[in-house]
Amino acid sequence: MSERPVVIVTGASRGMGAEAARWLGRAGAAVALTARNQTALDEVAADLAQHGGDSMTLPADVSDPASCIHVTEQVLERFGRLDGLINNAGILEPVVPVRMADVGAWRHNIEVNLMGSFYMISAVLAPLRKRRGRIVNVSSGAAVNAVAGWSAYCAAKAGLTHFTRVLAVEEPDVTAISLRPGVVDTQMQGVIREKGPGNMDPDKTDYFQNLKAEGKLAPPEIPARSMAWLALRAPVEWSGRFMEYDDPEILDPAREMLGESLR
Ligand SMILES: NC(=O)c1ccc[n+]([C@@H]2O[C@H](COP(=O)([O-])OP(=O)(O)OC[C@H]3O[C@@H](n4cnc5c(N)ncnc54)[C@H](OP(=O)(O)O)[C@@H]3O)[C@@H](O)[C@H]2O)c1
Repeated sequence: MSERPVVIVTGASRGMGAEAARWLGRAGAAVALTARNQTALDEVAADLAQHGGDSMTLPADVSDPASCIHVTEQVLERFGRLDGLINNAGILEPVVPVRMADVGAWRHNIEVNLMGSFYMISAVLAPLRKRRGRIVNVSSGAAVNAVAGWSAYCAAKAGLTHFTRVLAVEEPDVTAISLRPGVVDTQMQGVIREKGPGNMDPDKTDYFQNLKAEGKLAPPEIPARSMAWLALRAPVEWSGRFMEYDDPEILDPAREMLGESLR
């Protein structure tokens, strides 16, 4: 059995998931990296290895329940234990008003963001219970703010956040947190800038365009540090909470444990 804590990160091929994996490696955890793009996962794994990290790559689509079970089985086979899950894989689209939404695209959003998180959680609950492990569900401000054009995403993230509360009351041996990561400079923001005009409120479209133009998007490593810290250290009494990535209760100990920057 691995002597290091073992954490699965979904959506680890880029963006915040890849950065959370790097922080976990720095903290001495073994990381199971999963997403659909094997090449990108391998690059993250190579980067982790260069810094002394132990990881494995598991290409999988979280919208497929059998793949989520297979990921978990392979992690247990390799490491013999599981201590944490960061449910980070996510998509924004469709970006379109409800009256124009395509049924298949809407369903796919829910399949990835909400069902995918459920599939992963169902797969890992038994081994996580054994280790009194932790789940970090990466939610969004969209869970509580209504954004025109984002109906599926808002519904999925609201569902994920409330699902986290139910987990907390059902599973006393597992700590489950849902996290708002802020507004972050990743590919998802590129989708907003590309698809927003004509599909979102003009004010909101301008807001996101300006954040990028003015360099005000958060670098992914900062919310990713909070994810990694929560996956390793979140106290059980926090279970069920919907938290901000920059809550000082997270930020201060995360900074102390992991440092200021990955680079
Ligand atoms: N960026 C923001 O401002 C922001 C704000 C609030 C919340 N969030 C949330 O933060 C999380 C990370 O997003 P990000 O901003 O880092 O975006 P990103 O760069 O687009 O990364 C999304 C990740 O999800 C993976 N993914 C997408 N569909 C998948 C599927 N079907 N199965 C498995 N993996 C899948 C992608 O990998 P592959 O393509 O290789 O599968 C990628 O690794 C998401 O849950 C997002 O909703 C982001």
